[in-house]
Amino acid sequence: MQNPDRTTGPSTGSGQPREGAFGNATGLVCRACGAHQELGPHYACLECFGPLEVAYDFPAITREQIEAGPKSIWRYQPLLPVPADIAAIPNTDPGFTRLVKADNLARELGIKTLWIKDDSGNPTHSFKDRVVAVALSAARELGLKVLACPSTGNLANAVAAAAARAGIKSVVFIPENLERPKILTTAVYGGTLVAVRGNYDDVNKLASEIAGEEDGWAFVNVNVRPYYAEGSKTLAYETAEQLGWRIPEQVVIPVASGSQLTKVDKGFTELGKLGLVDATPYKIFGAQATGCSPVAQAFREGHDVVRPVKPDTIAKSLAIGNPADGPYVLDTCRRTGGAVEDVSDDEVRDGIQLLARTEGIFAETAGGVTIATLKKLLASGQLDPEAETVVFNTGDGLKTLDAIADRVGPAATIDPTYTAFTAANLV
Ligand SMILES: Cc1ncc(COP(=O)(O)O)c(C=O)c1O
Ligand SMILES: [Zn+2]
Repeated sequence: MQNPDRTTGPSTGSGQPREGAFGNATGLVCRACGAHQELGPHYACLECFGPLEVAYDFPAITREQIEAGPKSIWRYQPLLPVPADIAAIPNTDPGFTRLVKADNLARELGIKTLWIKDDSGNPTHSFKDRVVAVALSAARELGLKVLACPSTGNLANAVAAAAARAGIKSVVFIPENLERPKILTTAVYGGTLVAVRGNYDDVNKLASEIAGEEDGWAFVNVNVRPYYAEGSKTLAYETAEQLGWRIPEQVVIPVASGSQLTKVDKGFTELGKLGLVDATPYKIFGAQATGCSPVAQAFREGHDVVRPVKPDTIAKSLAIGNPADGPYVLDTCRRTGGAVEDVSDDEVRDGIQLLARTEGIFAETAGGVTIATLKKLLASGQLDPEAETVVFNTGDGLKTLDAIADRVGPAATIDPTYTAFTAANLV
């Protein structure tokens, strides 16, 4: 008998995914050995346990077709593992965030052309809404009933909100010492929030264990990770489209697990192959906080593998001591001629203030890491000040207020009179 879900909507879990459930995706392929696997809730290669990624058979697609699509990541539906009717299925519709020409910051840093891709404008104020929207689609199409994740904070927000919007259960695991705003901005969406006594790497290990035990759960960054990761390609697509269908010469991207950085690379490469942009060369630079900089360390030491560290930094959203995509970040940055650098917590605070003061954009600590790394790479001559550069601000400063709480505040407290104002000699 034909599964009734095949043509009428996402799977109810009663059988095979419906026709077209994953758009133009054709299967999963191992990033280590190239072995193929069927589309499904799989993330490890059966041959070598390597990580899997989504493979496609892309149709011919034009800029005009994309430009006529919705003002969200779904305008790139043909390039994502999601069905053609994705925009009609309740989700948070992330993406198409602004690309800001940062002339003031450029002047201050002595760089010619600088843009900020400002992903704080997403529904839960970080780029994680992109990856979760794609993972949610996979979960639904596979008939999985619970949306779950281990998180350093932003993913927690995105999963809880997306599950609420989709009307499904969420279970979110966080390290107990997370910033209070990130705890509250997750819990408010309902769902189950679990604080774990341990750091992110402990939480991640626990999540993998639960994922192995519980049927019907979609751990967005564990068992549906190949789909989740594809969401980050949309950062590259949007950036190129917003530049007038052009790939920038240099990009700076924050690194935690490293997934986002490697998928921005995949996105630029795909656009070139599809003829949507000229396949011009670009360099990718990774940014970490010194207190959790295993990838930057490996880059400097010329290693191909990443030695895990115990994180200690205010940039908690990037505090992954054992990054799953670390080796791929090293490969991407080396292959494109980029680098991975790290900056101190004080430089992170400076970075947050610099971006806010020059461009009116209030970034969270991850953005502070990225801006501070931009500054450092320019000062060391690793970034070319003449080359067009895009920096990714992936999260919102309102979630990490403590980072600058001791540094900023009112210039004075005065009585409500003009005399008092002039006497204070403030401007
Ligand atoms: C704001 C922000 N930026 C960047 C990242 C890094 O993402 P990835 O784990 O894909 O490297 C994270 C991860 O949690 C994040 O929360
Ligand atoms: Zn393999």
